[in-house]
Amino acid sequence: MRNQPFRLAMVGGGEGAFIGAVHRAAAALDGDWRLVGGAFSGDPDRNRRSGDMLGIDPDRTYDSLDTLLAGENARPIGDRVDAIAIVTPNHLHAPMAIAALDAGFHVFCEKPMAMSVAESRLIAQAAARSGCQFGLAFTYSGYPLVEEARARVARGDFGRIRLVQVEYSQGWLSQAIDRDGNKQAEWRTDPARAGLGGCLGDIGTHAFHLAEHVSGLCVEELCADLSIHVEGRRLDDDVSVLLRLSGGARGVLKATQVAAGDENGLKLRIHGEHGGLEWSQMEPNTLTLRWLDRPAEMVRAAGPGLSPSTVPRLRTPSGHPEGYIEAFANLYRAFAARIRSGEAAAETAKGGADWCPSIADGLRTMAFVETVIANAAGDSKWTPLAAD
Ligand SMILES: NC(=O)c1ccc[n+]([C@@H]2O[C@H](COP(=O)([O-])OP(=O)(O)OC[C@H]3O[C@@H](n4cnc5c(N)ncnc54)[C@H](O)[C@@H]3O)[C@@H](O)[C@H]2O)c1
Repeated sequence: MRNQPFRLAMVGGGEGAFIGAVHRAAAALDGDWRLVGGAFSGDPDRNRRSGDMLGIDPDRTYDSLDTLLAGENARPIGDRVDAIAIVTPNHLHAPMAIAALDAGFHVFCEKPMAMSVAESRLIAQAAARSGCQFGLAFTYSGYPLVEEARARVARGDFGRIRLVQVEYSQGWLSQAIDRDGNKQAEWRTDPARAGLGGCLGDIGTHAFHLAEHVSGLCVEELCADLSIHVEGRRLDDDVSVLLRLSGGARGVLKATQVAAGDENGLKLRIHGEHGGLEWSQMEPNTLTLRWLDRPAEMVRAAGPGLSPSTVPRLRTPSGHPEGYIEAFANLYRAFAARIRSGEAAAETAKGGADWCPSIADGLRTMAFVETVIANAAGDSKWTPLAAD
């Protein structure tokens, strides 16, 4: 069992990027990871400046993933990078993940897993042949009270689940900022770099993953409507999906990036026969429970009554808010634990200390994207979402 921090390299996440800095803060939080190298940008000057700013040895600021893989594999084993975080736009996830896995490195990859189910399967094959771990950044499953919600549904507190309602409402793409130089908007609205879905791939996948993860149910069929509200945009910016889930539950998924004024409004409600729960990402330290036969309850992070699997996901006493970076850090910690245990992703139980989203989660969410697109473009009312 290794107790030293794992050595991490990052691809993407250079100067001006969004999520790379969040990964770095999260990976460092519990001392499981040390960033030692990277290829932070496709632009050589920006890459070099980013490496300098992060205090990376200039020999380990590489000009591409290929030179990173070759350079690290030439180092002695005790000094070589253990894992690579991929935080680039979506079109690079699959080729980079496959190259890194084939070169013998564990991979922690941003969502969506790839551009298609077919590409995701190639990642799965690369992980299987390399024996390396693959983690996927479905951030919201790392929140302590999301785990609490999942655990309470799983132990049957609400009875048989009837309703799953998930909403992810953002407003930042309400105007054509993709054509006004906003770097994050620009690639997200370009089918060649974002994939088949716009809002669908970017945040619809988060909503779908959260809904299946917490409810423990599988979406079996769906009926979808995709729209583009901003003139000239090539990918959807607004998604509505009716869901038929296993066990007879019904659901609704709404994801939009044109709800003008909305910030990062991810909300989940699940109801069973006796009561239900509500969790909202913008108030992540409260889980509300509602009952048919008694007053509502408020479960608080680090407060009383938490499930055993929630407690290790908390770091501060109650009333000291934890949030996005800590949720991400829970995934990095679980990923480190999984590398230490050497267990295959399929063997790690949800709620366990070394569970983090992986290949099965990625395949499901990519199948969701493709099924929504097929349904929205076709004539059938309901389209089955194949189990993989
Ligand atoms: N899990 C989450 O909550 C979450 C949140 C935001 C973004 N994301 C995902 O993270 C990824 C990045 O999103 P972002 O908003 O940070 O994008 P961004 O545009 O801010 O950053 C992308 C980075 O990748 C770099 N890059 C591009 N091509 C490269 C190459 N060939 N080699 C090395 N670096 C390269 C860019 O220079 C930039 O530094 C996307 O897949 C997105 O879906 C996930």
